[in-house]
Amino acid sequence: MRFSEERKFLKALEWKSVRDEADQRKGVTAPPLQKRVPNGAELMRLPDFKTLDLDSLSLAKAIADRRSIRVFDEREITLEELSFLLWATQGVKEVIRDGAATLRTVPSGGARHAFETYVFAGTIQGLEQAVYRYIPLEHALYKCFEDKNMPEEIATACLGQKFVASGSAVFFWSVIPYRAEWRYASVSHKMLAIDVGHVCQNLYLACEAINCGTCAIGAYDQKAVDSLLRLDGEEEFTVYLAPVGKKKVNT
Ligand SMILES: Cc1cc2nc3c(=O)[nH]c(=O)nc-3n(C[C@H](O)[C@H](O)[C@H](O)COP(=O)(O)O)c2cc1C
Repeated sequence: MRFSEERKFLKALEWKSVRDEADQRKGVTAPPLQKRVPNGAELMRLPDFKTLDLDSLSLAKAIADRRSIRVFDEREITLEELSFLLWATQGVKEVIRDGAATLRTVPSGGARHAFETYVFAGTIQGLEQAVYRYIPLEHALYKCFEDKNMPEEIATACLGQKFVASGSAVFFWSVIPYRAEWRYASVSHKMLAIDVGHVCQNLYLACEAINCGTCAIGAYDQKAVDSLLRLDGEEEFTVYLAPVGKKKVNT
């Protein structure tokens, strides 16, 4: 049957391999919970977001109103708002199992949380235009690099979808597959595909709470986005991305 090979990774076929092949079962030490920050690098703690009015929108209304937004207002988003969006998508609530896993604001198969979040900050109050990496254990940002041509490069890498770089920021989620493979061997890839959907859905709902909009992006050039983010494309590669910006009034 056409695509039968490609379909396989979505099937729960390989549980035996978890027992026989997973490094966790062989006693291998768990991989780090988050990507290492280079020695001596400065971390920028994200502000508390208690000042935001997050209680006036009901969850039911956020779910009902959520839609993909592709036209953004020119207003900047604030650092508090970015802090809230990063917490909502990958924030750590608890470190468990003697430091071997985290509980976060999204669920994850086996609590493996194999994603890293990179944010291209275009127009965020108080942040220089640059690419930052979210450091979930510290709720902080690490400035990775600046690239003045990033908006054009993002649009090109997203197959000409210009709106992707037209908001205040772009969230990129990369995966470090071994973080899941350590526990789930060849079942990991099904888990990872499911996991990343939760992350982006929380971004949609959190955006609703602060008058922002987003749009899930799955159509992008793998090599181009990995190279934009300076990822090796094997041990870490991009799986999903989403622009964020203020909603235009009446859209
Ligand atoms: C996995 C996935 C990939 C998507 N990729 C793109 C994309 O590359 N470009 C785009 O404009 N919209 C993309 N979308 C948004 C969908 O087109 C959108 O969710 C769909 O049309 C339904 O509209 P709604 O989100 O407003 O309900 C994607 C959505 C998902 C879930």
